[in-house]
Amino acid sequence: MSSFSQSFPPKPTFTQKDVPNLSGKVFLVTGGYSGVGLEVSRVLFHKGGRVIIAGRSEKSYSAAVEEIKGNCGDGLTVDVSTPGSLEFLFIDLSDLTSIKPSVETLLKDLNRLDVVWYNAGVMVPPAGSKTKQGYELQWGTNVVGHFLLHKLLCPLLTATAAGSEAGSVRAIFVSSLMHAYGPKPYGIDFDSTTIDSEKAKSIPIWTLYSQSKAADAILAAEYAKRAIDLAPTAEDGTKKNHVISISLNPGNLKTNLQRHSNTNKIKEFLINMILHPQSLGGLTELYAGLAPETADCNGGFVIPFGRKGSVASYLQKGMEKEDIGKKLWDILEEDVKSYV
Ligand SMILES: NC(=O)c1ccc[n+]([C@@H]2O[C@H](COP(=O)([O-])OP(=O)(O)OC[C@H]3O[C@@H](n4cnc5c(N)ncnc54)[C@H](OP(=O)(O)O)[C@@H]3O)[C@@H](O)[C@H]2O)c1
Repeated sequence: MSSFSQSFPPKPTFTQKDVPNLSGKVFLVTGGYSGVGLEVSRVLFHKGGRVIIAGRSEKSYSAAVEEIKGNCGDGLTVDVSTPGSLEFLFIDLSDLTSIKPSVETLLKDLNRLDVVWYNAGVMVPPAGSKTKQGYELQWGTNVVGHFLLHKLLCPLLTATAAGSEAGSVRAIFVSSLMHAYGPKPYGIDFDSTTIDSEKAKSIPIWTLYSQSKAADAILAAEYAKRAIDLAPTAEDGTKKNHVISISLNPGNLKTNLQRHSNTNKIKEFLINMILHPQSLGGLTELYAGLAPETADCNGGFVIPFGRKGSVASYLQKGMEKEDIGKKLWDILEEDVKSYV
């Protein structure tokens, strides 16, 4: 689907009112207290779900709780008979040491996890910004931190899927239209993804963002294959009850993501003209995570504002011809092994 169609999409067909009652279900949204993530948390809560918001600022979380409870969003009415719940999970994706302790505490109190949105992200920070462990900040946050989190959540996702309706348990990796502009030929320059990489210094910051978003899409496709292998075999020999893994472009949206972008007033005005309300990005993420029609999208890509699309062809080629997904997965396994 063309960049134009993704930048100027038709109205969503899957909206808040299509989200079923979610009581009894458990969801986790990284970065769920701002931007697109907040819109996802809002709908999940008002539809009765238990919503775990993972992030690094309890203050931002508290402000979001006020906002979410006081405003149920377009097209929704508060159903007081099935209130949802909101809780905070401290995780700093740019510090791998922060992830396991929080997840271990959470898992003591969790017997299911229906859908996780790996939504948090950082875009074009000042050049040279790094994570606590020394990865280029966008790579470390958007990719390495989420990979570690996913590894820790994976057993519970797999177990939930084994005992749930086929296609209902999902892991959503939030990518971007920018995934199409990663380093050629296949989206990732692996020399720039190591700790204290000298190579990363020579790559434009936007290309490094694109690379991180290409990796998110590749991870979703790679996990889609692995999730089937991990699922139990049913009596009829099939493996229907596996986690569904999807990546997506939420759309070009007015959020805090542009906080680091260096623009003048005219550029800012022009950019704002082509950005859409963040709630539409929320619907795109909800479509990937909850819509019955995306149950057959395992390994696929969803585009604004809730349509089935596909990843850029160079990425597809890399995955098919060079097994970039396995290469990425193996490298990340090695990167996070001391933090699991
Ligand atoms: N907005 C767009 O046009 C657009 C387009 C394509 C894709 N996306 C993707 O959509 C996702 C959501 O972005 P958004 O537009 O909603 O931006 P946003 O409002 O800036 O939200 C990003 C979220 O990520 C969190 N985050 C950043 N670094 C973190 C860290 N180290 N640990 C934990 N959380 C961290 C932020 O928390 P803090 O506030 O604490 O930093 C914030 O909650 C991102 O993955 C982004 O790449 C957005």
